[in-house]
Amino acid sequence: MTKYSKKQVVFHWLIAMMIATQFIFHDAISDAYEATLRGIEVAFNPLVAAHVFVGIAVLVLTVWRFSVRQKTGVPPYPEAESKVTKLASEIVHYGTYVLGILLPISGGAAWFGGVKAAAEAHEVMKAILMALVALHIGGALFHLFAKKNNIFKRMWF
Ligand code: HEM
Ligand code: HEM
Repeated sequence: MTKYSKKQVVFHWLIAMMIATQFIFHDAISDAYEATLRGIEVAFNPLVAAHVFVGIAVLVLTVWRFSVRQKTGVPPYPEAESKVTKLASEIVHYGTYVLGILLPISGGAAWFGGVKAAAEAHEVMKAILMALVALHIGGALFHLFAKKNNIFKRMWF
């Protein structure tokens, strides 16, 4: 296996776009949640529904993607790279899988269950995910432009 399968590449970019959407369009649900905490009734807002729907889709696709990963495997990490960067990339990758599952669950517990601690966890985890994705993008671009190896290409079509 020299690169990720087509299916894995589609999963990667689809989930990446969906997570980006969640970060860009979160104002509506943050405002609605704040209003419900104050006991104000909120009218239907398609952006709120979209946050819930896309978030649940991220959960389903992340679990599905992980099961495909277990069956298909992953291309081996280049031998020329250090053990430290390998470990760092694994921590970031597994971290995004874990948060792709826990973020929607905490969001659901806050929105449908009214659990305040879950809303706080959702905020903390979104910050961790943001940091992991920033590191991940930095690493990917470093491999592409500085190291000029095939790491980026193997997650491309
Ligand atoms: C991977 C999936 C998700 C991501 C990346 C995500 C991301 C975010 C972000 C960035 C915020 C703004 C937090 C802030 O103001 O600091 C937010 C707020 C919120 N999200 Fe999500 N979300 C996801 C899934 C969900 C799901 C599935 C639900 C509900 C079923 C949900 C419910 C909420 C609620 C209720 C808030 C307002 C909570 C608050 O502001 O403390 N989220 N989300
Ligand atoms: C929310 C956004 C993203 C998430 C959650 C994410 C998550 C992941 C995960 C979990 C893997 C490992 C796949 C596996 O081994 O099972 C991966 C690999 C990869 N990602 Fe991302 N990614 C995101 C955005 C990006 C972006 C924007 C880029 C490019 C700038 C990128 C470039 C790559 C590359 C090149 C690999 C392959 C690494 C390798 O071959 O070792 N990712 N990503």
